[in-house]
Amino acid sequence: MSFQNITVIGAGTMGNGIAHVFAQYGFQVQLVDVQQAALDKALQTIGKNVERQVAKGVLSEADQKATLERIQTTTSIANGVAKADLVVEAATENKELKLKIFKEIDQSAPENCILASNTSSISITAIASATSRPNKVIGMHFMNPVPVMKLVEIINGYATDQTVTEQIVALSKQLNKVPCVVNDYPGFIANKILMPMINEAIYSLYEGIAGVEEIDTIMKLGMAHPMGPLQLADFIGLDVCLSILQVLYDGYGNTKYAPCPLLVNMVTAKKLGVKSGEGFYKYSPGSKELVVSERFK
Ligand code: CAA
Repeated sequence: MSFQNITVIGAGTMGNGIAHVFAQYGFQVQLVDVQQAALDKALQTIGKNVERQVAKGVLSEADQKATLERIQTTTSIANGVAKADLVVEAATENKELKLKIFKEIDQSAPENCILASNTSSISITAIASATSRPNKVIGMHFMNPVPVMKLVEIINGYATDQTVTEQIVALSKQLNKVPCVVNDYPGFIANKILMPMINEAIYSLYEGIAGVEEIDTIMKLGMAHPMGPLQLADFIGLDVCLSILQVLYDGYGNTKYAPCPLLVNMVTAKKLGVKSGEGFYKYSPGSKELVVSERFK
């Protein structure tokens, strides 16, 4: 099967990044969101990120124009998926919502269409069970920022056909990404390893072993990570980190995944990181300077 028409469900940070990358590599993209305002904002963000690529010489001005022209938007899932060869769902990380969306996609998408989810931790097998085609459902987990990060973690559900996996591996390579295939268990691989590291960093702060800057500097300069674990947690969203840790804790029943009480408190207090303006650091629009939150000074 050759892919031409890609539908992306959800116009948030991950959805707009995924739409951007598919359009950049020549695919026709339908971007779907229930809110028109989210679609407008996504197009603006894609426009800015494509411009950034032109400024860096990654894209020519002709490519920039063609990339943007390949993206269409709609607020209707049924219309958006009607001609899709592949649907990539990147809606809010909520299991009930995803099951509902997949039921709806399944009813309107062509019979041969492959259905992928960008979920970071919800079971692909559970999502597949909401459809009439579990053998054509797969995880396609992109990393943020999507245009920059090379990895696509591909997750085989319990019933995913091997041919479907092979097609998604080949497609990921067409996007100039590096695919890695894993099996469907809680947190897959990326988050089964990343989230305990982030949780341990938060525990180290909570226990007073070191401060925010010390923890992040040790991991940045000592282990060559581009961001320290606390900055990365702010970048991902502390609510997202908490919800993934809960999936790991429930799924494996092991206390090593129990979320740090400080993380729980911060999410309850709506200190969610970059998106709320404050987490371990304080963020002001337009500034790249890293300022530790007053709470941790
Ligand atoms: N679109 C296009 N290009 C972008 C971009 C975007 N959205 N964001 C950044 N870039 C480009 C910049 O133009 C720049 O390009 P050059 O290297 O050619 O100059 C490059 O990326 C680096 O960006 P910046 O100079 O602005 O900033 P930086 O050097 O501090 O890098 C970063 C920013 C790429 C985000 C880097 O800090 C990084 O890699 N951080 C770690 C990211 C990470 O771990 N992501 C995974 C999170 S986990 C996840 O996503 C999944 C999950 O399930 C939780």
